[in-house]
Amino acid sequence: MTARIIDGKAFAQTVREGVARDVAALAATHSVKPGLAVIIVGYDPASQVYVRNKVKQTAEVGMNGFHFELPEDTAEADLISKVKELNGDPAVNGILVQLPLPKHINEAAVVGAIAPAKDVDGLHVVNTGLLASSGGGMVPCTPLGCILMLKDTLGDLTGKKALVIGRSILVGKPVAQLLLSENCTVTIAHSRTKNLAGEVAAADIVVAAVGIPEMVKGDWVKPGATVIDVGINRVPAPERGEGKTRLVGDVEFAAASKRAGAITPVPGGVGPMTIACLLKNTVTATCKQHNIDL
Ligand code: GUN
Repeated sequence: MTARIIDGKAFAQTVREGVARDVAALAATHSVKPGLAVIIVGYDPASQVYVRNKVKQTAEVGMNGFHFELPEDTAEADLISKVKELNGDPAVNGILVQLPLPKHINEAAVVGAIAPAKDVDGLHVVNTGLLASSGGGMVPCTPLGCILMLKDTLGDLTGKKALVIGRSILVGKPVAQLLLSENCTVTIAHSRTKNLAGEVAAADIVVAAVGIPEMVKGDWVKPGATVIDVGINRVPAPERGEGKTRLVGDVEFAAASKRAGAITPVPGGVGPMTIACLLKNTVTATCKQHNIDL
């Protein structure tokens, strides 16, 4: 079997087009323009690339973007003051603080300072709590992107055996909660899991989010399974020349795509969906804040 390649770039484009239509409708019917504030602290090059893309795409869908670059030595109290100022700014409907933050800053304290209604990352405990209970809060962007791609590929997910590899707050835990809401039978694997190969072999859906290059071997994958690879790992690529690198996922793509029914590539899979879902969440937050039913 050769897997269908799930084109995250094309899917993200479709999501962004929907967001742009919603933004235009909000302007036409309610004179409201959604605003997204993105804060980055320090100079991590990968984070700077992500944030630049977020700011660019915010403008492309017709939203207001507010971009704050704070120095590496920013005090936690000053960052929290900035967040609180944005909480009170009616032009700002969504706030994202790019993670990771420098070591001297307590991430939980900063995320906890974001108004839950503006937490478009879905990381505030109010939103993680809602996700774990009744639903209805803001849903983290990468997990939302994973579920949208799975539903587009498989339709109804009811009864599927889903394996989530990784238990991070940003991806593993929320994606597991969302799969549960979709009526999957969910297993969460992590660094202490005893027989990962066996867990993968039993799964109809695999979501890999561990951050270890090609850790999931292709021949573990159940024939016909759907594989969502959240990993983005930069590895040396001497075959491309001295000092060159390339991006790989958490799954051995070449081997897995011979067994899977469908698989996301890296790059071009989950990655583009994350920003598209951030923009979608910003529209959702704006509508809720203004009591608008689009
Ligand atoms: N760093 C990597 N991914 C993310 C994300 O989805 N949100 C935030 N805030 N930081 C990130």
